[in-house]
Amino acid sequence: MQGRKILFGVTGSIAAFKAAGWVSSLVKEEAQVTVMMTESATRFVTPLTFGALSGNQVHTDMFSTGAEEMMAHITLSGDADAILIAPATAHTLARLAHGMADNLLAAAVLAAAAPVVVCPAMNAKMLAHPTTQKNLSTLKKLGYIIVEPECGPLACGEVGSGRLAEWDTVREALLGLFVEQDLAGQHVLITAGPTREALDPARYLSNRSSGKMGYALARTARRRGAEVTLISGPTNLPTPPGVIVVSVQTAAEMAEVVKEHARYASIIVKAAAVADFKPKKIASLKIKKAGADLRLELEPNQDILATLAERRGRIRCWLGLLQKAITMRLKDDVSCRPKRLT
Ligand SMILES: Cc1cc2nc3c(=O)[nH]c(=O)nc-3n(C[C@H](O)[C@H](O)[C@H](O)COP(=O)(O)O)c2cc1C
Repeated sequence: MQGRKILFGVTGSIAAFKAAGWVSSLVKEEAQVTVMMTESATRFVTPLTFGALSGNQVHTDMFSTGAEEMMAHITLSGDADAILIAPATAHTLARLAHGMADNLLAAAVLAAAAPVVVCPAMNAKMLAHPTTQKNLSTLKKLGYIIVEPECGPLACGEVGSGRLAEWDTVREALLGLFVEQDLAGQHVLITAGPTREALDPARYLSNRSSGKMGYALARTARRRGAEVTLISGPTNLPTPPGVIVVSVQTAAEMAEVVKEHARYASIIVKAAAVADFKPKKIASLKIKKAGADLRLELEPNQDILATLAERRGRIRCWLGLLQKAITMRLKDDVSCRPKRLT
């Protein structure tokens, strides 16, 4: 985010207070943040809060006569790298979808060349209303990036869809704007973390892998436009936004799931620390403490990478033979083709 100019639009939702934290996070990442607020937004959080957090003047009024604010509806978006509207009310979605310019925020968006990321937040029924859905679909068609609201408890006391997305998800949407989408169309399969090999119902053998490498790779691949499946051993890491995570415990489980998903992956990255050995026998009851030494008999786990390479090799070999057969068939066909009648 360093040095990125973010024009941050805040609208009149109960979730407006969350925008204050997001501005603060952007500033910590050394982005240059300028905040504009709708009149309703100023009823929820004061411009003073955003001014203090961003270190910049907050813009609220299209008709301000101050020298710095004159024509702000045109100048504000002029040098922005991205516009973020969060939270976005149903009313503001309607405004943007219809190209209205009746407040500073809407006019600035209309005058913008920069990409616009919109984070709706509202009551579940307001979100589900056909008009709101139509407006969202119009905005998507117009090229706005919509960060879908999440499902969960809402401020109104209901539970449903309409919660403002998490900052991690929104941050990824913003960062995706600033990197080349060179993995678009690729399906990347990544393994991460340790595996656990059970000794008995209470104990297991494992290793110190944190999973951070695989999770970081997954996040970056997603940011660069790939569809990403992350097959993960037990970790405490949060799911990277937009990544499908399949959780496994043992090396055998990981091998099984990798084989299943490898079929449609165009790139496979194996960052997991898979246990090389597993106990030969898993005790059905907790092994009792005894005076004598405990000796564990281990046997090797399947080498997932080697199995994959062998399978891919076999597939490549079959494809080669198939290609040869087709080429020969085509040659035959050409020689057998009847001469064109003149
Ligand atoms: C307490 C309260 C909470 C509100 N929360 C939301 C909300 O989360 N989402 C929404 O779309 N509207 C919400 N509204 C309604 C908007 O504030 C209202 O539609 C307003 O006109 C939006 O204007 P704006 O889009 O220009 O900011 C809320 C209103 C009140 C009084």
